[in-house]
Amino acid sequence: MANETLFSPVNLGTHELPNRIVMAPMTRLRAPGSMPNALMAQYYAQRASAGLIVTECVMVSDTSAAYMNAPGIYADEFIEGWRLVTDAVHEAGGKIFIQLWHSGRVAHVSLMPGGQAPLAPSEISGVGELHTPTGKHPMSMPRAITADEIRGLTKAFGKAADRARKAGFDGVEIHGAFGYLIDQFLRDGSNKRVDLYGGSLENRARFLLGVITAVQQSFGQDVGVKLSPASRAHGMSDSRTEGTFAEVLGLLNEADLAYVHMMEPLQGDEIPSLLLSDTVAFARRHYSGTLIANGGFSPTSADTLVTEGGADLVSFGQAFLANPDLPARIRSGEQLAFPDFSKVYGIPGQPMEDGYTNYPSLGA
Ligand SMILES: Cc1cc2nc3c(=O)[nH]c(=O)nc-3n(C[C@H](O)[C@H](O)[C@H](O)COP(=O)(O)O)c2cc1C
Repeated sequence: MANETLFSPVNLGTHELPNRIVMAPMTRLRAPGSMPNALMAQYYAQRASAGLIVTECVMVSDTSAAYMNAPGIYADEFIEGWRLVTDAVHEAGGKIFIQLWHSGRVAHVSLMPGGQAPLAPSEISGVGELHTPTGKHPMSMPRAITADEIRGLTKAFGKAADRARKAGFDGVEIHGAFGYLIDQFLRDGSNKRVDLYGGSLENRARFLLGVITAVQQSFGQDVGVKLSPASRAHGMSDSRTEGTFAEVLGLLNEADLAYVHMMEPLQGDEIPSLLLSDTVAFARRHYSGTLIANGGFSPTSADTLVTEGGADLVSFGQAFLANPDLPARIRSGEQLAFPDFSKVYGIPGQPMEDGYTNYPSLGA
């Protein structure tokens, strides 16, 4: 057997997982009307041999308006769609956490309800373009939301978690990474507020900590947080990145989480920085709980990291796209299949299963 350490069981929150291979959250844009469906259930069930699946990011509000056909959980009507997904994964023997998400300023007016401005900590736009019904456009200038609205969004995360519990999820991952709303609050490049939610790190982390508490009402110890401190995705910056995230991790030490999911930046996305050149090691130094490492791992480098104690689990994103039975391939040392990147995201009008559920398992 290859990569043996990855196949030792591990406790995560209230769960015991049979292996340390996590399927990283991946947006696939195959939920017309934001409604989860049977095809998505099939896709996740195919990947149920992961020790843990984390779903693609899921909208906690219809103002989380970055991507067409991203799934939602911002109303009760979504519960039955997600029930298809959780039932299918459980029947296949897996465990699945839902990634709860608000995109904040990563949004376009044409995707926002009533064409309103996107919501953000401060009136500073995100960097990059988004697909809209009329083609690709730069992100719209956001509006700085009020403290009352922040409390409303905190509650929206809590209500989404309550629905996720009713839909049968095993836990929640809070999306605090990649330049979305929680990340926008944490960093001083995007948060210029002078109220209780801006200024000191304690204030900038208030939204994240409030969201954790709100989600824990439904999920207790089965709540994780994903962070990507060394990534400047969507225009993120901070005047003291290391200090900021060392303090964030310090606060998370007190939060009784199932895990922190630490993402290394994607190539070309890195904030130049010595200390953060190895973000997982940085997280291990500052966070004392269960750590999931992510970003660019091969089966061998993942196994070595866990064997040497650098992380407790490793998540794989791209490797799960074309290898639904990734753990079996990691175990046998088999060559991994390569995905067709032109089909990663669903394209309206084209067969949704193509490049999604039609990658075979070994021996299938
Ligand atoms: C197609 C695709 C969609 C992604 N969508 C999300 C997402 O919804 N939420 C998230 O936290 N990360 C998302 N990511 C990032 C992955 O979770 C992961 O952090 C990244 O791919 C690095 O891991 P890897 O090198 O194993 O692929 C996405 C990545 C890919 C390739």
